[in-house]
Amino acid sequence: MSEYVKFEFDGQLYEFPIITGTEGEKAIDIAALRKKTGLITLDPGFVNTGSCESQITFMDGEKGVLRYRGISIEELAEHSTFVETSYLLMNGELPTLEELTNIRVQLNDQSLVHEDMQIFFQNFPRGASPMGILSAMVNALRSFYPELTHTEEAINKTLLRLLSKIRTMAAMSYKISRGHKVVYPRADLTYCANFLNMMFDNPVNPYEIDKDVVKALNVFWILHADHEQNCSTAAVRVVGSGRVNVYAAISAGIAALWGPLHGGANIAVFEMLSEIAKNGGDVKYAVEKAKDRDDPFRLMGFGHRVYKTYDPRAKIMKEMVDTVLPKLNIEDPLLDIAKKLEEVALKDEYFIDHNLYPNVDFYSGIFLRALGIPVNMFTVMFAIGRLPGWIAQWRESMDDPHWKLNRPRQIYIGPKQRKYIPMDKR
Ligand code: ACO
Repeated sequence: MSEYVKFEFDGQLYEFPIITGTEGEKAIDIAALRKKTGLITLDPGFVNTGSCESQITFMDGEKGVLRYRGISIEELAEHSTFVETSYLLMNGELPTLEELTNIRVQLNDQSLVHEDMQIFFQNFPRGASPMGILSAMVNALRSFYPELTHTEEAINKTLLRLLSKIRTMAAMSYKISRGHKVVYPRADLTYCANFLNMMFDNPVNPYEIDKDVVKALNVFWILHADHEQNCSTAAVRVVGSGRVNVYAAISAGIAALWGPLHGGANIAVFEMLSEIAKNGGDVKYAVEKAKDRDDPFRLMGFGHRVYKTYDPRAKIMKEMVDTVLPKLNIEDPLLDIAKKLEEVALKDEYFIDHNLYPNVDFYSGIFLRALGIPVNMFTVMFAIGRLPGWIAQWRESMDDPHWKLNRPRQIYIGPKQRKYIPMDKR
């Protein structure tokens, strides 16, 4: 039986259908609202607005559930690899052995970056943010590797090219920023091992690949691989809706991820924990400061638009930190501070009342630091992980039968019509 929402406006009764997702989520379909009533909705931050129907990722923010194409993040973290999960997100199904082998071969084939691109990297000023560089370089890929769109196979080639080259570009930017020689990708290494090797290998200290570290990086990237309609994914879809090329849409996603309220939170958490450490480790002070409405400070790595319980990704990240650091013989004083901060915050009435729990970024910086990733690359690591999600969401939006150019409306609250005043009369 169809369900409807009824409302009265200007003495007239209107009905709008309710649509229900496969997991029981309900929404009012207001596509005809303006046409029927002349009204629009106003929803700052899109807190109540669904922008699309999607088959990719399911989140239940109350129960702390996250699934990619129906498979739980916990299962994927335990059993999958980043490449396999990327395939799942981008294609809707887990790959067969043959499909997985095929995608691995293609990722290897596409892993080199045009030599001329190195010149760009070299000309960014020292100290330039790697996120700005990555966003610019992904956009620039279009000039070097024109987007292929004529067949399904050609589109796949473009998307795999992006997935492969992003890690080469990220590692390359790191090497160049340090004044070191670029390390080329190797065909005998897996996606994650290749990245680590390109980052850390050098002629003086050849990088030794550790399978536990490779596994941990796979998990890290799986945890970041998609998160339905978040800020950066929304940016990819909005920009993509203008039918720009895919590189430009992804470049917009990277730019959106940069901010400290979104992916840049992993750097902001590190800075916050370092500041607490510098000031003697007083976590209570930080919690009190975060509660003060007159102070703009917030506990970074805490809170989430959708999760009103512990972020399931943060749970796995915390467990991973607890196993990876001892394995690498690393004692990070920031880990103790983070744990104390979490303990105090989770017992605090304000944090309880506001349902504020650690999110994925709370422990991720500590994990990345243990792998030797420099702080200014933390958000780049997030971006590499999120790429398959952006690609899947972009592709879904391109194939959406309800596709429309994304163009929100507004309620104008500026001055009413008035006359232009000539300069000598102002
Ligand atoms: N510390 C202190 N108070 C907080 C925090 C926090 N980290 N997060 C939210 N609040 C409070 C707000 O002050 C507000 O209080 P009020 O209702 O009494 O005024 C209430 O909780 C709701 O906050 P909003 O900002 O309205 O919630 P929103 O859903 O817009 O914010 C966000 C979500 C941006 C993630 C927020 O929790 C935040 O700023 N967290 C810190 C930054 C962070 O960790 N970002 C990463 C998020 S995960 C990701 O994007 C990958």
